[in-house]
Amino acid sequence: MFCAARTAFRRGFATNASVGGFTGAVGNTPLIYLKHLSEKTGSRVLAKAEFQNPGGSVKDRAALGVVRDAEERGLLKAGGTVVEGTAGNTGIGLAHVCRANGYKCVIFMPNTQSQEKIDLLRMLGAEVHAVPAVAYENPANYNHQARDYAKALPNAIWTNQFDNTANAQAHYISTGPEIWEQTRGTVDGFICSTGTGGTLAGVGRYLREKSSGKTQIWLADPPGSVLTSYVNSGGKLTERSGSSITEGIGQGRITDNLATIVNNLSGAFTVPDEKSIEMVYELLDTEGLYLGASSALNVVAAVELAAKLGKGSTVVTVLCDGAYRYQSRLFSKQWLNSKGLEDAIPKHLKKYTVLD
Ligand SMILES: Cc1ncc(COP(=O)(O)O)c(C=O)c1O
Repeated sequence: MFCAARTAFRRGFATNASVGGFTGAVGNTPLIYLKHLSEKTGSRVLAKAEFQNPGGSVKDRAALGVVRDAEERGLLKAGGTVVEGTAGNTGIGLAHVCRANGYKCVIFMPNTQSQEKIDLLRMLGAEVHAVPAVAYENPANYNHQARDYAKALPNAIWTNQFDNTANAQAHYISTGPEIWEQTRGTVDGFICSTGTGGTLAGVGRYLREKSSGKTQIWLADPPGSVLTSYVNSGGKLTERSGSSITEGIGQGRITDNLATIVNNLSGAFTVPDEKSIEMVYELLDTEGLYLGASSALNVVAAVELAAKLGKGSTVVTVLCDGAYRYQSRLFSKQWLNSKGLEDAIPKHLKKYTVLD
């Protein structure tokens, strides 16, 4: 049975056996039982296959959520332009939704992101501005450039994925209920990393509400993000140190989306890149899953959370996207070497590093 809110999110269903276009195909992804890791931990380690969304990532839900919200509030009119600052996947989701709903799409992104993602955005018809990666405090930051560009353009909106809570709401009405139904309400812990915080906040709030606070919600962080220290120090934003090979995750501030869950988290911890890259390879080898580094980080974190919650627990995380968008990096000897990560791949998994 779909709950009313979820049915609303998934409107566009043509019949029970078919869905209404691209937007109707967003969500309703499988929850994958990770057999090897579950057996290793003695817990049920489950992962939401968000790479199966039609645009290939968890951000299809956020993209649809912010566009729907703008349409419903009358901010986005026929033939209008959607402008966003995005590290890639939200832009890809928005580019698809814009084509499907007849809008133009303009994307501002840091020029540090993978070429695969930039190329794909252009192929999807988006206008892409790859701008220098500068701190949020700098007016030239890609988000501020997106905001200013939309302001100057008639019939244009800035979807503002970081601070527009329609993003988290999309997960509250779709991803959260799906996980609750797929686990039949037996989820002890949910953990994922955050970029905007939309996934963690929307899913976390729903699961906490449905379980009357019993489901623990944890945040997993890459190196270079301030969120672990923020959560574990009870709210102090401390200096960030280091950097990460992961893309789309890690934060220097509490976004409005994250703010809706941050005080109700059970805890947070940082996952080093060495463990994330090893998990990219391990998931391929043991589960046959070809995933990006943020998904691998999430799985490392889910295994650690399972150990904290004890044998027999059920832990859920998110598989954000596939490795296709990063393969020239993650499977290249040269690139791994340049990041000092070649030794992080165990000998028996080195056969997957097929690119020079
Ligand atoms: C690959 C990847 N993983 C994880 C995330 C984080 O999701 P959220 O923005 O919902 O926190 C993103 C966000 O762009 C992403 O691109």
